[in-house]
Amino acid sequence: MRRYLIAITLILSSATYAADGAKIFKQKCAVCHGEKAQKSSLGVSKVIAGWPTEKIIKKLKEYKTGKLNQYGFGNMMRNRATKLTEKEMLAVAKYIESLK
Ligand code: HEC
Repeated sequence: MRRYLIAITLILSSATYAADGAKIFKQKCAVCHGEKAQKSSLGVSKVIAGWPTEKIIKKLKEYKTGKLNQYGFGNMMRNRATKLTEKEMLAVAKYIESLK
């Protein structure tokens, strides 16, 4: 019985992650990266749709600390990344990975 409960909880929480990620992406990222993350932001960034979760999180964290500035717009991403909690980063990164 317990095992089923754990399985159900896991399924429900991963569904919540997906939902949150989509919402965060629409509200905070789509304007520059495109509805489906299919655009090169400002014509400089790479297309991030389908990127592995870990790679996205790594970049977001580097932007957050101000370490990353690949094409001269690091500050723009820093503003965005600073406003995300760890949980939101994970959710949005998973969502982006799911986009193709
Ligand atoms: C105001 C426009 C804007 C918004 C909003 C924005 N980005 Fe960006 N993003 C950029 C720009 C410009 C770059 C390139 C920055 C640089 O010079 O390194 C970038 C770079 C990135 C990169 C690295 C891409 C590469 O080429 O290596 C990732 C990952 C990323 N953004 C994710 C996100 C996520 C996730 C969000 C939402 C939380 C978001 N961005 C919101 C403009 C934006």
